Amino acid sequence: MRVAKTINETQAFLRNVRRDGKTVGLVPTMGAFHDGHLSLMQRARNEEDIVAVSLFVNPTQFGPNEDFDGYTRDFENDARLAQGVGVDLLFAPEAEEMYPDRPLTTVHVDGLTEPLCGAFREGHFDGVTTVCCKLFNIFSPDRAYFGRKDYQQVQVVRRMAIDLNLGVTIVPVPTVREPDGLAMSSRNAYLTAEERAVAPKLYEALQAGANAIRQGACGPDAEALIRDTLAAEPRFGLQYVSALHPETLEPATWSGPPMVLAAAAFLGKARLIDNVLVEA
Ligand code: PAF
Repeated sequence: MRVAKTINETQAFLRNVRRDGKTVGLVPTMGAFHDGHLSLMQRARNEEDIVAVSLFVNPTQFGPNEDFDGYTRDFENDARLAQGVGVDLLFAPEAEEMYPDRPLTTVHVDGLTEPLCGAFREGHFDGVTTVCCKLFNIFSPDRAYFGRKDYQQVQVVRRMAIDLNLGVTIVPVPTVREPDGLAMSSRNAYLTAEERAVAPKLYEALQAGANAIRQGACGPDAEALIRDTLAAEPRFGLQYVSALHPETLEPATWSGPPMVLAAAAFLGKARLIDNVLVEA
């Protein structure tokens, strides 16, 4: 596995492989790899000639009171795990490489960024779309792989790629879960043992909502059911529970699928997000 710290090295490597007509898949990450990340890399490994991973804790997508400083950074372990799944190129730049000057340009996606996490994390999606746009320009990947756990992120980045003709196909990859259902996340490391024991209830509540949708419930009724289920566990600091159209992310006022049910809640220091897609 080649490790590149600079954009020049990365692009020189990619120029060579492109000359041979090889496909390139990019897995954008912020490191702290768990099985969710590895499943993205594995999927790319199955589908692409060259698998590239970016590892960059992007400061512009964190709010002033968020966990940028505390975010887990363990380059040696991440590099070992990436190598283990056959990654070809690991791009791990310093902040100065990605943002040599204060950027004056931001990529903003309207509408899709307003509900869910967008309503609670001001500027977050502008940070995500801007860094992803930069990464897509650096790598020119054929496909980029994103976890479905960050459902809104997938929709926002996909729409940016379409609107700006970036020539990359966004591949959503199913959420990887712990045996008790908790969605894998780098932020699960913040949970105490007690909090970890109640954390799977977020997914259980979403599943209860999804079952109700399958039986013909409307979006607002499913939201109420999820909220009531979560209210039984006072440690959850609920931010939102929303039933939305899976692509437009508009409130789902109708009954039955298709719908995505998404929720975010603090549990101690960890902000957990999860979702269930109920397909037609
Ligand atoms: O999902 C993440 O880890 C980040 O938001 C991403 C896509 C790597 C952009 O920094």
